[in-house]
Amino acid sequence: MGAEDNKKRAARAALEYLGDSRIVGVGTGSTVNHFIEALRSIRGRLDGAVSSSEASTQRLKALGIPVLDLNAAGELPLYVDGADEANRHLQLIKGGGGALTREKIVAAVSKRFVCVVDDSKLVQVLGGFPLTVAVIPMARSYVARELVKLGGRPDWRSGFTTDNGNAILDVHGLRILDPPALEAEISQITGVVSVGIFARRPADMLLVGYTDRVEKIDR
Ligand code: 5RP
Repeated sequence: MGAEDNKKRAARAALEYLGDSRIVGVGTGSTVNHFIEALRSIRGRLDGAVSSSEASTQRLKALGIPVLDLNAAGELPLYVDGADEANRHLQLIKGGGGALTREKIVAAVSKRFVCVVDDSKLVQVLGGFPLTVAVIPMARSYVARELVKLGGRPDWRSGFTTDNGNAILDVHGLRILDPPALEAEISQITGVVSVGIFARRPADMLLVGYTDRVEKIDR
């Protein structure tokens, strides 16, 4: 229960950053599920949410929170999402749930990205958690060969298709010492839709949940 409680503590702390905003961007995963649950108490103040996945959409709708089309919503004041790994530069690895493409889009159009994690996610060097890469299905083997050239060991997430119909490669064995550079390099491989390094658009604030407190790390 420890990690789950710490996720909940971080997720609830993110509510504070909503301020007077009537729209919020919502990520995906077990930590964000706690944030969605926390929205229950203030849902009357919201016009709606922009969701990064079908899974979060279902949860938001179940609470009666309207889910808005990003194209109509414009710039979002706040985006709240989790991560698989985070460093103190607020660079992240995301995509364990396979929702990285929409998550990257919502992060890009948000003024403030608050990332919520439990303390086990905070690392010195990214890459211990396998790096998720979303690819066009027919390019899967080609992209995998290119990732091997970069020193990784890609594994096809067999039987899994993203909300946008893409395949996922989980890349093991990378020690990501220059996250923005590797993000750019992998993004440029033909057939890659998105890479789970969030360093060119990192978080603006990291809320780390511990058993007795929430640490705020900002830029
Ligand atoms: C989904 C993600 C999630 O934010 C990430 O996997 C963390 O998930 P959890 O909060 O369940 O640990 O990037 O694509």
